[in-house]
Amino acid sequence: MVLRIAVLVSGRGSNLESILKAVERGQVKGATVSVVVSNRPGARAIEVARKHGVRAVAIDDKETTPEDHASKVAQTLAAHGVSPGEGLVLLAGYMKILPRSFVEKYSGRIMNIHPSLLPSFPGKDAQRQALEHGVKVSGCTVHFVTPEVDAGPIIIQRSVQVREDDDEAALSSRILRQEHRIYPEAVRLFAEGRLRVQGRRVLVRR
Ligand code: GRF
Repeated sequence: MVLRIAVLVSGRGSNLESILKAVERGQVKGATVSVVVSNRPGARAIEVARKHGVRAVAIDDKETTPEDHASKVAQTLAAHGVSPGEGLVLLAGYMKILPRSFVEKYSGRIMNIHPSLLPSFPGKDAQRQALEHGVKVSGCTVHFVTPEVDAGPIIIQRSVQVREDDDEAALSSRILRQEHRIYPEAVRLFAEGRLRVQGRRVLVRR
C-alpha cells in the first residue's frame, strides 16, 4: 500500500522541495506526496508544490480559531487519503502550533524539522538563539510531533560547526543544507517501516 503524505507549510518551501525531489528520484519508495497545505495563501511553498504537480491547498488561518483551522486541515488531509492511521503528516516550516486533538489523532505519524540540535533552542529563531548563546556546534533535528512544541522523540539529528564570523543568515544556510538531507532520510525510514518509538527514543532498524 502506498504511504500518502501531506506536507504542512507556511513559507519558502525548501524542505518541501527536498522531499518532493527525493520522492521523484525514487529515494523514498512506496510513498507519494498527496497534498500540500499552507496556512498562508501567498506562501512560496504553494508554487513549489504546483511546480512538482502536487495539489496545494491554502487554508487561511486568519479569523479562525486554532481548533477550527486544524479541523479544516484534517478534513483536507482526509479528502486526499492522508488518514490518521495510515498517512504521514510532515510539518515543513509550518508556523502554527497544532492543537492537542490534532496531534493526538495523528500520533506517531507527524514529523517536524527544527533548525537546532533539540532540546537546545526550541521555538522561534533557533539559529539566532544558538548564536546568542555562543555554542560552537548547532544543527538540525527531525522529530515526531507531540503536543509540547519541539519536544517529541528524535528521529535524526545532524550537527554543523558554528564559525566565529557567522551571522544568522550564514549559519541558517549551513544548517538548511543538512535539513534537506535529513528530512527526506527520515521519511524514507518511516516509509520503509524502520522506525519504532520506545518512550523518548526512536529505534531505527538497520
Ligand atoms: C526551516 O529552517 C525549518 O527547519 C524551520 O523553518 C524553516 C523552513 O524553511 N522549521 P523552508 O520553508 O522549508 O524553506
